[in-house]
Amino acid sequence: MNLEQIIKNTIIQKAEAIGFDEFMNLALYYPAKGYYSGGRQKFGEQGDFITAPETSDLFGFCLARQCAQVLSGEDDILEFGAGSGILAAQTLFELGRLNKLPKTYYILELSAELQQRQKDTINKALPELMDRVVWLNTLPEHFSGVVIANEVLDAMPAKRLIYQAEGFKELGVDCQDDVLVWQEKSPYSNDKMHLPTNIRQGYTTEVNERAMAWIESLGEIMDKGLVLLIDYGMGRDEYFHPQRDAGTLRCYYQHKASENPFKHIGEQDITTSVNFSDIANQASRSGFAVTGYATQAMFLISLGIDSYLLVEKDEKKRANLAQQVKQLVLPSAMGESFKVLALTKDMQVKLQGFKEQDLSHKL
Ligand SMILES: C[S@@+](CC[C@H](N)C(=O)[O-])C[C@H]1O[C@@H](n2cnc3c(N)ncnc32)[C@H](O)[C@@H]1O
Repeated sequence: MNLEQIIKNTIIQKAEAIGFDEFMNLALYYPAKGYYSGGRQKFGEQGDFITAPETSDLFGFCLARQCAQVLSGEDDILEFGAGSGILAAQTLFELGRLNKLPKTYYILELSAELQQRQKDTINKALPELMDRVVWLNTLPEHFSGVVIANEVLDAMPAKRLIYQAEGFKELGVDCQDDVLVWQEKSPYSNDKMHLPTNIRQGYTTEVNERAMAWIESLGEIMDKGLVLLIDYGMGRDEYFHPQRDAGTLRCYYQHKASENPFKHIGEQDITTSVNFSDIANQASRSGFAVTGYATQAMFLISLGIDSYLLVEKDEKKRANLAQQVKQLVLPSAMGESFKVLALTKDMQVKLQGFKEQDLSHKL
């Protein structure tokens, strides 16, 4: 049975609309058939979207410089949702050059198919470091070191809300005449979410309770260290700008964006932008200090991304790298829409990645 039919049957059995978070969870993570659980090529030019580490090795090299600043030689790295495994390979390669390898590089990946792909990528690039990489299926009980999550929060199933005369209501997914449709559900309230009030009826937006719960769990297991969250998103004021009245939900299928999650189910990516104010608030409640917030561009510049260009002698390779740097830092590309949020626990440090910009006071 195809995934669309499985979702329709789920709704029919429940005899009511399911939350959009439940729909998104099934569409992305249903065993063997969900977008991230199935065998489809997702990343890179042959796939549906290109992430920063897929764009350039320099992204992982800069991230490694930030890790190197805080790794003591006794602690580990834990990467969530490692995609093709390319970021792990880049980070380990550069940490090796800097003589700052972690004891273990853990990868927590939900998809068995992606775990295999990550093993192949790392084994091909760095066979000598394979024994330092360990895959996990659940959170460890305790962790000290650096946590990395690049474009992971945006892939966590979000709830969709609509503003009506009585206030916010949850917007769910129903099946009518064998067609998936949006359906208003019950009124929504949650003290942890600061929802906007100066908006018109029909205003639609998202909240990500699962991302908040994930931060809370991270707070429980993390003894000491740094968390780097990189994603497209913004602070609350921009997230809930009255003009952003259709929310941030986006779907990607073969590099084309759409706003219709009911098409290509299991074959297209579904994502929402990250409300970094909510994430930072939850982090503070979970025992973290919010240590830095910057655009991806300023984070990479602070870590000296240009230095990799300066040392490249081969003109053709340098031109190629310059093109990749533009893609990572230009505002018209990934430079400003992507942000980096740093959280620390039991650690006093002025992070290099936020030397040129720290906007955490604006969250
Ligand atoms: C857009 S991809 C990003 C892949 C990779 N980090 C990159 O930048 O190329 C999102 C990834 O997040 C993973 N993911 C989502 N929720 C997760 C969770 N709670 N724990 C671990 N991985 C998760 C997905 O399985 C998927 O691999």
